[in-house]
Amino acid sequence: MSETVRLIIEGKEYELPVIIGSEGEKAFDITALRRKTGYITYDPGFGNTGSCASAITFMDGEKGILRYRGIPIEDLAENATFIETAFLLINGHLPSLSELNQTRVLLNDSSMLHESMQVFFQNFPQASHPMGILSAMIMALRSFYPDMGTEEDIHTHFLYLISKVRTMAAMSYRMSRGEKVVYPRHDLSYCANFLNMMFDSPVHPYIVDEDLVKAMNVFLILHADHEQNCSTAAVRLVGSSRAPLYASIAAGVSALWGPLHGGANQAVIEMLEKIHKDGATIDEVIRRAKDRNDPFRLMGFGHRIYKTYDPRAKIIKKMCDKVLGKLKIEDPLLDIAKRLEEVALTDAYFIDHNLYPNVDFYSGIVLRAMRIPTNMFTVMFAIGRLPGWIAQWKESMEDPSRRISRPRQIYTGLTESAWVPMDQR
Ligand code: SDX
Repeated sequence: MSETVRLIIEGKEYELPVIIGSEGEKAFDITALRRKTGYITYDPGFGNTGSCASAITFMDGEKGILRYRGIPIEDLAENATFIETAFLLINGHLPSLSELNQTRVLLNDSSMLHESMQVFFQNFPQASHPMGILSAMIMALRSFYPDMGTEEDIHTHFLYLISKVRTMAAMSYRMSRGEKVVYPRHDLSYCANFLNMMFDSPVHPYIVDEDLVKAMNVFLILHADHEQNCSTAAVRLVGSSRAPLYASIAAGVSALWGPLHGGANQAVIEMLEKIHKDGATIDEVIRRAKDRNDPFRLMGFGHRIYKTYDPRAKIIKKMCDKVLGKLKIEDPLLDIAKRLEEVALTDAYFIDHNLYPNVDFYSGIVLRAMRIPTNMFTVMFAIGRLPGWIAQWKESMEDPSRRISRPRQIYTGLTESAWVPMDQR
């Protein structure tokens, strides 16, 4: 007997079916609510609203659990590569050796960009933000690789995106510095290729450092998916109109850009740099973060789902010490971040509001140490999130109950009123 809930509206009783997820999460199904009752629900920001059923990523915000296709993030960060994780998210299982090798070959074969795309990069104003360039260039990719006909095609486009977005990010960086573009190499792994395309130069040939390649893999794995976050919801929403895959992904990049979302990794470093430059005390910063009349927020803290330490932040914090130790870097911003965390986690405001470090609090420290420029931090987040967006888009396209996403509203404007001639206004 399936569970139900009872709703009493204006004295009349309605029964709604209950949906129970594989981890015991419960929801009552309101798909027939308006037809049956004339009421809609109201939930700005969708804090209490499930937009879909998904088998890709499971999060438990109270326990700080994150699993991709059932595998804990800690295991994947320890043992997997980013490409293995991308395959897992998109295909629902870890790749066999032959599947992994075939994926590697296809990623290499699709790693180049059409030469005329360089003209686009040359014509962006110098101060253009890399996220704006990335979103525009992903849309432009669609013009070069248009056919989305067969099922086989779409998998080819998944790999095009994963491979070419990485090339695009490195190319954009090099051209913004007036440096010669470095092309992808088939003898390097996905992450080693990215670092080589970013930093190789005739005067200082890039020497692949396996510790940094591992750190880049872990960084991208930790960012690969996060169920129905803002940018993934944007990808699904745009995809629901049957817009092309590239348009949905470009929408995801745009949503991720915001400082409340993926743009927080850049905002955290800018916040730490300002604290360092101004010599503000930790107590002063914490006081401001708690002051409702002060727009300042402790960037990298807080989360809609996690009401405990973000499991990804734990891994990245450890990675900071490892990468900075390997590179023999003493970064004062890391010390400031650690002191902020120490004070915040014992402060009643942060405890009462369940505010803990999220994935963005320490990630910029690692990227900085790897010489990634601050305005590219969110691009790195996007490269990581790309397989998650693709997996979620694919799942939504394969959903037999799929419909165009079109939320309703409660209208609060003027009731009917007449047009007023100019001489009477
Ligand atoms: C990501 O959804 C995902 O999964 C996202 C993500 C992913 O992988 O896709 O995990 C990636 O986006 C991580 C979050 C990155 N953003 C930041 O670090 C920006 C700083 N954090 C906040 O702006 C905020 O915590 C959010 C945006 C992350 C969450 O916002 P919510 O859930 O809408 O919570 P809220 O803004 O309503 O805050 C609830 C209360 C408020 O206080 P009250 O008015 O109730 O008294 O907590 C306070 C807020 O003022 N609060 C903070 C705070 N975050 C929330 N106070 C100080 N500093 C903060 N950082």
